[in-house]
Amino acid sequence: NAPPSIRLTVNGGAHDVPATPDTALLHVLRNDLELNGPKYGCGLGECGACTVLIDGVAARSCVIPVRAAEGRAVTTLEGLGTRQHPGPTQQAFIDCQAAQCGYCLNGMIMTVEALLRRDPCPTEQALRSELQHNLCRCGTHVEIMQAALRAVQ
Ligand code: FES
Repeated sequence: NAPPSIRLTVNGGAHDVPATPDTALLHVLRNDLELNGPKYGCGLGECGACTVLIDGVAARSCVIPVRAAEGRAVTTLEGLGTRQHPGPTQQAFIDCQAAQCGYCLNGMIMTVEALLRRDPCPTEQALRSELQHNLCRCGTHVEIMQAALRAVQ
């Protein structure tokens, strides 16, 4: 039996994906929609690598069942800009060379983006607090904070 189809709106486009409702949103985004911005890190909602926006709010797509995103606007890293025309938050991370391995950066960028959407002028403390549960195993937190601050400018 084919799984039922679920309608998702991702980066402004509607998609009918053949997924069981409990499938993690992350797997649908990566495997069915071939969006590789969101990364699989821990799979437990703890590292932030899989962060997307759902109705503009940061969400950990590895622990969100796809049915919870039905009828809502999902935005992935690809929805913020393109390689040729990065969005302002993406550009700030490029300008600050914030990546070492780069695996965590999807989560860092999406988390900063979500904060900026609800508070366009956050304090450094607010940025630190927002990013405190996004893990970077390379230890490039200094550059990541520089990029986050630059994204505010
Ligand atoms: Fe989702 Fe780590 S992969 S929080």
